[in-house]
Amino acid sequence: FATGELDGVRVLVTGGPTWEAIDPVRGLTNRSSGKMGYAVAAAAAEAGARAVLVSGPTTLPDPDRVRTVRVVSAREMHDAVMAEIDAADIFVGVAAVADYRPVESAPRKIKKEAERLTLDLVRNPDILADVAKRRPDIYAVGFAAETEDLEARARAKLEAKGLDLVAANLVGRPGSGFEADTNTLLLVDRRGTTELAQAHKTALARILIHEIAQRYHAQGRA
Ligand code: PMT
Repeated sequence: FATGELDGVRVLVTGGPTWEAIDPVRGLTNRSSGKMGYAVAAAAAEAGARAVLVSGPTTLPDPDRVRTVRVVSAREMHDAVMAEIDAADIFVGVAAVADYRPVESAPRKIKKEAERLTLDLVRNPDILADVAKRRPDIYAVGFAAETEDLEARARAKLEAKGLDLVAANLVGRPGSGFEADTNTLLLVDRRGTTELAQAHKTALARILIHEIAQRYHAQGRA
């Protein structure tokens, strides 16, 4: 029933944090609430897309008209994305994926005995880089969370990961980034830079989806 800019286009979005278990009750995670990723998936569905959201642990309900796949760790998110990616036209990586996980997760709760404890960490797979590698034809959008040098770092990420667009947000200040209801985005691609002014994440996601749809269709005509 939807008529929109992304009618019939298949959009895969990641959102939320990942949780890397240390033992059965503890883990490494970050402050992503999922609000931005869920809003992007919902906006894609509103625009007529067939939207799939791969989400890390959040307290948010599944967005309307979005098939939501729940995962916990970065490796699970990687596997879920790889299982869906061949059936997607656009990928938007909004999740705050843990770059590292404990080498081992203890099978039982670690007891408070030692004075010092060292956590040995190993790199997690880079989901976005693997998406771009496996599907060079997909329209790939990455997010960048930075505390400074937003544009330069976003542009470096665009090139390093072979992306079509990077949506960069400043983190660590009120009204933008992690947890907040609002955000500000800088869209960086090979044509230039566009600033999306501070707005509620729901409104901003609709504008972002519009910008992505325009670029995606323009690319098809090129
Ligand atoms: O969830 P909210 O509370 O609403 O907060 C939204 C947000 C701040 C989390 C979101 O807007 C955001 O910026 N998401 C990306 C956060 C991040 O982890 O950025 P990064 O610079 O570490 O990663 C860059 C890109 O690579 C991202 O698209 C990320 O999904 C992807 N990535 C990172 C690491 C990894 N192992 N695999 C990845 O795919």
